[in-house]
Amino acid sequence: MNTQVPIVGAIEELRRYVGARRAAGERIGLVPTMGALHAGHLSLVEAARRTADRVVVTIFVNPAQFGPNEDFARYPRTLAADVEKLSSVGADLVFAPMADEIYPPGFATKVVMEGPACADLEDRFRPTHFSGVATVVTKLLNQAQADVAVFGEKDYQQLLVIKRLARDLDIATEILGAPTLREADGLAMSSRNIYLSREERERARQLHDTLTDAARRILHGDDIGAATGAARARLADAGFDIDYLEARHAETLAPVSSLDEGPIRLLAAAKLGATRLIDNIAVQS
Ligand code: PAJ
Repeated sequence: MNTQVPIVGAIEELRRYVGARRAAGERIGLVPTMGALHAGHLSLVEAARRTADRVVVTIFVNPAQFGPNEDFARYPRTLAADVEKLSSVGADLVFAPMADEIYPPGFATKVVMEGPACADLEDRFRPTHFSGVATVVTKLLNQAQADVAVFGEKDYQQLLVIKRLARDLDIATEILGAPTLREADGLAMSSRNIYLSREERERARQLHDTLTDAARRILHGDDIGAATGAARARLADAGFDIDYLEARHAETLAPVSSLDEGPIRLLAAAKLGATRLIDNIAVQS
């Protein structure tokens, strides 16, 4: 049996824990999440563990990053199961605040960004999303004062946004990206996969398959526009309603038209029925 990981809800308690551990010479890793944890999240805890002595996981479903027609109210909330999973991978502390701990009455500040937050990808379809993410992540980084914080490449644009804000706002915590964990058929693990019907779940693998094929074509010298166009057509044929599927510079997210323009990332978002899936892969051999 695992000992259950302690849970705190107050910023004060989080600070006291981190302060004491750092005073003892330990390196602290932070893994921010919205809960509904799966193996992908747990892989971030393990990545943090490899570089830090203690791992703090935050669980907070951040209302500010959901649009008015998105799934905030029905986002899965599974705290007891999450705590059990985190105990099994040896996390050291869970910070699970209530909404008014993060947004007390009178709260009036927003982090609004340009650069990677305005790449005409996720931001085109979720115009207030990255401001909500940037605001809460800035707060969590300030609250925890960790040495390193780990975020998934699964949300690739988000990872670049967070790296940028940490640099721009002189946040001392190092931001580390970790690879996407996938199901056996290639579907990126996501808390939202539980919304897929059985039939949609079978088709969902096409998203990763299609990106993988497009990346291979580009590496073999195919025209980037032709490869991404064919990928869009294939997904549309499979019944996906595509928001975007694009080849971008992996560091700046600028549009690219040839392999010589730098490391390339393929990024896509598409709906299967009511469920919106996002994924991305590197174009590399
Ligand atoms: P959430 O969607 O819960 O994801 C928490 C972290 O897990 C993010 O860094 C995300 O990229 C990572 N992640 C999700 N699926 C993954 C997978 N299959 N493999 C590896 N990592 C994966 O992203 C958020 O929460 C929020 O926006 C947050 C950063 C916590 C701010 O509220």
